[in-house]
Amino acid sequence: MRLDDQVQTDPVALTTALTDAARAQGATVHEGVRVLGASGSGPVRLRTDAGEVTAGTVVLATGMPILDRGGFFTRMEPRRSYLVSFRGVLPPDGMFLSADQPSRSLRAAERDGEPLLLVGGEGHVTGRGAAESTHLDRLRDWTARHWPGALETHAWSAQDHGTAHGLPFAGPLLPGAEHLLVAGGYSKWGFTNGVAAAMALAGRLTGRQPGWVDLLEPWRGRELAGAGEALRLNATVGVHLVGGWLRPLLGGPDAGAEPRHDVSRVCTHLGGAVRWNDAERSWDCPLHGSRFAEDGSVLDAPATCGLRRV
Ligand code: FES
Repeated sequence: MRLDDQVQTDPVALTTALTDAARAQGATVHEGVRVLGASGSGPVRLRTDAGEVTAGTVVLATGMPILDRGGFFTRMEPRRSYLVSFRGVLPPDGMFLSADQPSRSLRAAERDGEPLLLVGGEGHVTGRGAAESTHLDRLRDWTARHWPGALETHAWSAQDHGTAHGLPFAGPLLPGAEHLLVAGGYSKWGFTNGVAAAMALAGRLTGRQPGWVDLLEPWRGRELAGAGEALRLNATVGVHLVGGWLRPLLGGPDAGAEPRHDVSRVCTHLGGAVRWNDAERSWDCPLHGSRFAEDGSVLDAPATCGLRRV
């Protein structure tokens, strides 16, 4: 299938431009401050690692909400995917996504005037399946077969959350709680689903909601339609909760070799057994996708506290 008039853009340049536009309108942007919790409703009090902040309305846009109220972690599945960039070959003109499996995604980029080929794919649920480095190796092998002579420049991976029904969430954390809004579950289509969620929430706050906003409501009838799939997700989470703790006893072919470490392997969200990610050098939880750096500090929600030192 071919779609004309598609656009490819640099997400960092786009984010920078949006931030500049927000600042020009008088907004203040703070980075590097972690929100640890929220309480109250008039106003909402946000506890952060740099002190307390109050606000009339709060939007939690952390992918997976950092607050467990609302149980969003039971409705979303954390997924990772991989990308490797190569120089020395001519990338194809256009953006491509394979229809067959294993899925492969192709893009072109440019660095210092030199064309780069970007090869992506190998998605999987966070903390489960083969060691993470094998996913990058499969992309490298596939590229070597189709573009002999391609020279790798960078390799990286990303995380996003899928929902049972495939649509993102944008609305109150709890029914009727208009002071605490959430957005997430973009299912790797953040450029479109993230913008749709932003439009829905901005419309909600300004009283100018788009006509389709109900589709993204977290607490409407659509949730019942997705209940069967949500049950399946949670049954799988249960299997991994037990399996993660039994792996040291039963052995397992999966994770990459762990480094020497002095942090606990107990996820600070709800006690899952974190697994070593040998591609990102992080501790990843197979239950709801919290991730921690090698030293135990938090990388990805829903956890807000780092791994305990042991
Ligand atoms: S992310 Fe929920 S238990 Fe680890």
